[in-house]
Amino acid sequence: QVFWKLADHPTLPKGKTLALIVLDGWGEYKPDEYNCIHVAQTPTMDSLKQGAPEKWRLIRAHGKAVGLPTEDDMGNSEVGHNALGAGRIFAQGAKLVDIALASGKIYEGEGFKYISECFEKGTLHLIGLLSDGGVHSRLDQLQLLLKGASERGAKRIRVHILTDGRDVLDGSSVAFVETLESDLAKLRENGVDAQIASGGGRMYVTMDRYENDWDVVKRGWDAQVRGEAPHKFANAVEAVKKLRENANDQYLPPFVIVDENEKAVGPIEDGDAVVTFNFRADRMVMLAKALEHQDFDKFDRVKVPKIRYAGMLQYDGELKLPGHYLVSPPEIDRTSGEYLVHNGVRTFACSETVKFGHVTFFWNGNRSGYFNPEMEEYAEIPSDVGITFNVQPKMKALEIGEKARDAILSRKFDQVRVNIPNGDMVGHTGDIQATVVACKAADEAVKMIIDAIEQVGGIYVVTADHGNAEDMVKRNKSGQPLYDKSGKLQILTSHTCQPVPIAIGGPGLAAGVRFRNDVPDGGLANVAATVMNLHGYVAPNDYEPTLIEVVNN
Ligand code: 3PG
Ligand code: CO
Repeated sequence: QVFWKLADHPTLPKGKTLALIVLDGWGEYKPDEYNCIHVAQTPTMDSLKQGAPEKWRLIRAHGKAVGLPTEDDMGNSEVGHNALGAGRIFAQGAKLVDIALASGKIYEGEGFKYISECFEKGTLHLIGLLSDGGVHSRLDQLQLLLKGASERGAKRIRVHILTDGRDVLDGSSVAFVETLESDLAKLRENGVDAQIASGGGRMYVTMDRYENDWDVVKRGWDAQVRGEAPHKFANAVEAVKKLRENANDQYLPPFVIVDENEKAVGPIEDGDAVVTFNFRADRMVMLAKALEHQDFDKFDRVKVPKIRYAGMLQYDGELKLPGHYLVSPPEIDRTSGEYLVHNGVRTFACSETVKFGHVTFFWNGNRSGYFNPEMEEYAEIPSDVGITFNVQPKMKALEIGEKARDAILSRKFDQVRVNIPNGDMVGHTGDIQATVVACKAADEAVKMIIDAIEQVGGIYVVTADHGNAEDMVKRNKSGQPLYDKSGKLQILTSHTCQPVPIAIGGPGLAAGVRFRNDVPDGGLANVAATVMNLHGYVAPNDYEPTLIEVVNN
């Protein structure tokens, strides 16, 4: 039984409207030409920084501070928003899968038993992101799973790859495919019929999110399930090399591998087992629905084989999707959102589609829906569909700002929470000029929201979920940009390991509130207790400590 009532904060008042702004992909890094935040005009964020150290500081947003396996793991939006919302650090999917593979427990669970019953007669299909990015999946986990499954009876294996270039360098897909091919060749030497069956770039094939564009999932479905794609190749290395002539790794068109008779080598058939090996939910949920829901109507699946399907994790605990999974997901319970709703804090959350689930689903511990619809309103602004965001770097920042402003001025909400996507979504394209425009737009949205907070006498908290736009090149240990063999600058499309800023302010901020200096290692998980304080409450005991103190002057 959870005791939901929060203790009153000894000095801080309730009832102030609080804007909680999360800039996606906005870290702090040295100012140079590849730091798009530095290059861009960001007067609002610059002025907040003037408040250091009492009203502005840096917090950790990567590695162990957000529940990832190692300090080399860059932050990402899932773990970042989980930590921000839950106020505690949970071992995340990446780590839970590592543990389950290392101990072998993954093979003893219900999920593996369920799929392994198909091994005798059917094929095992593995679908997921092929890289060592560690954000959605990891190659070494796939390798262990291939080995483990074949040792446990899988005789025919087909891998459906999604090339990355977003969490790892563009162009790295070729080497990942070569590695996988050599692993599969070894399996074949041991009598397992193992092959890559299909592929495509993650942003164009399968890995859409938040139902932004079902065509992405359909393109994958046609290749993976039906064995149909516009491009046919005899082997995957050749496929990726050829298709890269016209597209980056992230955007490769779908392809299938065919035999000498031009027949696809691995469509999914009745009696087969399917595993989606991504541990991260947002970009697998749509495929999980297509694989699992009887009454699915988002696109015409044409062929609906009777399969046994398991996710690497269960992606949505509320929807119980998928029903079978290899590793239990982190049990992120008692999130700050749930507490605040129980304590009468009325909440408005908003972003555009591509980040909407970040401030709702991830924020609430990978849980869809409202805790209490009477107390909460979640507004989604439709994202542009079918473009890469470098051509539209302002995205919907203005619209998010306006929605938040209106929610604040309506005085119907105590917390107005937004995610402003630009730094991240444009940063991932690797287009430096566009990312500069993106950062300026994000800054303008922050200004709009802060201005509204000024009008209602409220409080603002501005922070970010992980780094991205502050560093757009790969660097050596001493921070010098790296060039590839042909002398080309190596553009960094991925997130970073940099810390992120947090700023507090607004006319409603009580006198004497400032950042403590005794939590130097504070990270994203410390934000929830901080926000609870600013709403007039003391956080639960097991939350990471608040970042603020109140001094009498
Ligand atoms: C993506 O899914 O777009 C990237 O892999 C990670 O980006 P995000 O963590 O910022 O969503
Ligand atoms: Co990102």
